[in-house]
Amino acid sequence: MNASRLLFTDLHHEVDHKQLHIQGAIPEWLSGTLFRNGPASHLDGHLFDGLAMIHKFTLDSGRATYSNRFLRTGVYEQAMKTGKTSSGFATPPQSGETGSNPNVSVMKMDHHFVAMTESPDVVEFDPYSLRTVGVLPYADQLAAHYTTAHPHLDIHQRGLINFTVEFGRTCYYHIYGLPAGSRKRTLIASIETDRPAYMHSFGITENHIVLVEFPLLFHPQELFAGDKPIAECMHWTPGRGTRFLVVGKRSGKLEKIVECGDYFSFHLINAFEKQGDIFIDACTMRSAGFIQSLSGSDMTDKPFSPANQPAMLRFHLAADKQTARVEKLSEEYMEFPGIHYQWANAQDYRFAYGVSTNQLQPENVENQLIKVDTRSGKALTWFQPGHYPGEPVFAPAPGAKAEDDGAILSVVLDGHSGHSYLLILNAESFAEIARAEVPHHIPYGFHGLFTNELFIEERNETR
Ligand SMILES: [Fe+2]
Repeated sequence: MNASRLLFTDLHHEVDHKQLHIQGAIPEWLSGTLFRNGPASHLDGHLFDGLAMIHKFTLDSGRATYSNRFLRTGVYEQAMKTGKTSSGFATPPQSGETGSNPNVSVMKMDHHFVAMTESPDVVEFDPYSLRTVGVLPYADQLAAHYTTAHPHLDIHQRGLINFTVEFGRTCYYHIYGLPAGSRKRTLIASIETDRPAYMHSFGITENHIVLVEFPLLFHPQELFAGDKPIAECMHWTPGRGTRFLVVGKRSGKLEKIVECGDYFSFHLINAFEKQGDIFIDACTMRSAGFIQSLSGSDMTDKPFSPANQPAMLRFHLAADKQTARVEKLSEEYMEFPGIHYQWANAQDYRFAYGVSTNQLQPENVENQLIKVDTRSGKALTWFQPGHYPGEPVFAPAPGAKAEDDGAILSVVLDGHSGHSYLLILNAESFAEIARAEVPHHIPYGFHGLFTNELFIEERNETR
């Protein structure tokens, strides 16, 4: 039996602030909460359509506790009744309850913790109990059929930046800011497009917002016909190339469109500008054809095969050129990239963290953590055969004095014992500091959020 199979096996168990056994020693300074989001049930369908579960690790005074809970959305309730998920990314539309199943990321919007996916509704949960609060409404009417689960925190204006896609006879990308303390999105730019691209993330620099249109294009008329899931309304269109839409952050003006060859990426690593040039770093594949294969019993055979490993590419958008120059940042591969966001976002940064498959012992799923120095291309790795780490989340040391002054947190499946654990690495040396052992497996997760807040206040609630 494949040791990684539990990554794609349902978890139905929910626990509340379970004290975890620690190996090693969690440093006293590492105090806060890691929230993780990912699909945890109905994993026999497409991975992106599994029911959203929030996992919570609380680190406090060298101790660790764990809680997990499904989001009680309409999609969840319907799945409990019928045994099937309703329309999702790759699930055909069905009659009955639909809505959001936000299984991708966790964000903090003011004091609200929300789960996000690419349908526009964000779902709030209680950071103490993980109970579902419900859809957190916006106080505006911005047209939105699609969005990203990866908003940016703007470093110069407090608040978030993200965009929506409006499908119609004419389609638009609506880039917006959500100021801190407000539920009203402020339109920065609306860009008309006849063939909107699937974009999972985007970049911001000091003065610009950059949407990267890879040639995976929506056919809006197919979406409106309503008989196919979203994944089948997107078409890989080789020869169309990649287009970088460079928008002035303050002016809202589409300043230029820079092009290069065919690529695909879920995750940009970072973006920044220097002397008028813009640099976009991304975990990049040569095709998006594998998306449709992320389902069924062959999950551990195909989707993350070494052939699909994303290369770390830097796209250099020179001020006076209409074509991007492409260079490799490292010989290492990387997916689920993370940076010391508060320090390095939109800056000429140095370190990226991620997962990949070990080049000497490759598997069809990511099996190691890596830290890459983007200036030298050199990498440090954490690897243990039969162990499968998820996205590394950077937790800065208090008053961090260097970009890599902090810890890396990653939820790892031990494929031998069948249990998962929270792994804590020294972000500078990549040496293991501690692991906090969960008494069951945790399926393949997507994204998380670390906050130095603790949500452990006693509440007399029953589950
Ligand atoms: Fe993502």
